[in-house]
Amino acid sequence: MKKILVTGATGQVGSEITMALRQKYAGENIIAVGHSRQPSSELADTGPYITLDVRDQAALIKAVKDNQVDTVFHLASLLSAVAEKLPQKAWDINMNGLLNVLETARMMRCAVFFPSSIAAFGYQTPALNTPQDTIQRPNTMYGITKVSGELLCDYYQQRFAVDARGLRYPGLISYKTEAGGGTTDYAVEIFYAALQKKSYQCFLKADTQLDMMYMPDAVNAAIGLMQADVEQLSHHNAFNVTAMSITPEQLSTEIKRHIADFTISYKIDPVRQAIADSWPKHMDDRCAHQEWGWQPEFTLSAMVEEMLEKLAVKLSKQ
Ligand code: SER
Repeated sequence: MKKILVTGATGQVGSEITMALRQKYAGENIIAVGHSRQPSSELADTGPYITLDVRDQAALIKAVKDNQVDTVFHLASLLSAVAEKLPQKAWDINMNGLLNVLETARMMRCAVFFPSSIAAFGYQTPALNTPQDTIQRPNTMYGITKVSGELLCDYYQQRFAVDARGLRYPGLISYKTEAGGGTTDYAVEIFYAALQKKSYQCFLKADTQLDMMYMPDAVNAAIGLMQADVEQLSHHNAFNVTAMSITPEQLSTEIKRHIADFTISYKIDPVRQAIADSWPKHMDDRCAHQEWGWQPEFTLSAMVEEMLEKLAVKLSKQ
């Protein structure tokens, strides 16, 4: 990886991957691509920034060619709750965007990183210790685009030798860029509410258990997988990765250890609850450990401590 283009660079994951890659490989080698959100000044000032729609193949090819890109981190995507509201648009952006990235990679000989998700599973999947290779019958549009994306990456790797790799991310927690439109967003909102109001009304039930991960681990996972020796990989794409498996109740209990008078209440959003209920409670990520040495750093308590500390600093400056 010498010249890297990051799509979705203004999003929750893309913004942090872009900055981590710029620190690692120097700003001018990392081309940030955004579309609808304005880039932060940090993103715009530390390296190249291009506005384009990932569905515009000519614009994508031009950006790759002009900048001699050898690797694309494709983070542009609509998340689960938004995709349920706008299913046709979600298919268009998530699938045609990925197809354009893979086609561009085939023509320009680039490697590709594609994030899949816990959403790639459904009710028929074993919810506990979800195996790496198992039944995938999601019933959400977001999940359907993630399974299709996994298959498309495998196809391009096997048929055209495109080095397409990817992970199945759990819910991601960060204090920098807000997600927007995801089912796991409660795990980010709760920190803002805890610091600003000392109370949070959660849209998922207290005992909804889902895999989660703190953003620095998510960034390291993506970069670690892309750096792995290809000879060691038998899966290439769609690796299960997790760092903790928690419920809203457990997260609020941990927050209460720092903010004693914090309270949580529940007002269930049936759409997001149904989505969460169809996802695994805890994935088995041993393949990622074995094939490329995946190891998360942040436990629940370490993540909560750092989130509260860093978010408090951020909010005090606003
Ligand atoms: N965090 C995502 C969502 O909730 C799952 O991949 O949509």
